[in-house]
Amino acid sequence: MTISAQTITSKTTLDVVPVAGKIGAEVRNVRLSPDLDAATSSAIRQALARHKVLFFRGQGHLDDASHEGLTPIFGGSPVSHPTVPVIQGTRFVHELDSQFGGRANSWHTDVTFFDAFPKASILRALTIPASGGDTVWANTATAYQELPAELRDLADKLWALHTNDYDYQSTRPKASPEDERRHREVFASTVYETEHPVVRVHPETGERTLLLGHFVKKILGLSTFDSTNLFRVFQDHITRLENTVRWRWAVGDVAVWDNQATQHYAINDYGDQRRLVRRVTVNGDVPIGIDGRRSVLKSKVPGAFAKRAEGVAAAASA
Ligand SMILES: [Fe+2]
Repeated sequence: MTISAQTITSKTTLDVVPVAGKIGAEVRNVRLSPDLDAATSSAIRQALARHKVLFFRGQGHLDDASHEGLTPIFGGSPVSHPTVPVIQGTRFVHELDSQFGGRANSWHTDVTFFDAFPKASILRALTIPASGGDTVWANTATAYQELPAELRDLADKLWALHTNDYDYQSTRPKASPEDERRHREVFASTVYETEHPVVRVHPETGERTLLLGHFVKKILGLSTFDSTNLFRVFQDHITRLENTVRWRWAVGDVAVWDNQATQHYAINDYGDQRRLVRRVTVNGDVPIGIDGRRSVLKSKVPGAFAKRAEGVAAAASA
């Protein structure tokens, strides 16, 4: 299949090969770089809007600086994570290293505990296990479209509270104590709580998407019991295998996903083998629900670990 961008400035044809039926495509004839021409960049954005995740093999020429420089291709500026530090010598590059707790084996959309969370993520593979370590993405637009009408009507009315202070252990039963400590001390060093509509209107495609994932603490207005069960119903529709794509990584691959229309899960099946990937995210808009209401950041406070550290410091100086 080809996507033509000849209406832009010059004739540009991307070689786009779908990977799964509902989400994901490989782009075969592009060498990613910050100075990619406007027509090719536009064609890539169109392909991303359609396929939700794009895979680019053989991008080993990229370094951290050129990785940071790719965000305009995807329609925005680079943005760093609200709590996790960037790697030394960079402004916006985050590293996920399996040796230091970087195992995102739980379904989520990146950074939804914040209101204007990133519109896209650009992930670059530096070290990949000989076997295992695949990533799976799910399409939250098709998940909404294929809900029974009764569930769509219900979802349309719902809002949910998202936070980074979620139950890390319950979503990762095999997490080490070190992983959990790092989650508390770094990831949840500042605790954010944001209310989002469960159904978000995609700002570029106008599609309705389900906005859930592991940062959801509660569906508003429901008991914890009902919230947990209802969350499960919608989340299971999102992650049905027919609604996903799975990518077998090679060193030098780049995957870019529309973080406004997907969830993802990094499979933790490679034991002590090293897996090291680096990520740059593209700044996004505050989500808007189908009634025009915008998501609201409700609170931003020091996490339990930071409060305890402050208490110790205060006691020491008293
Ligand atoms: Fe992620």
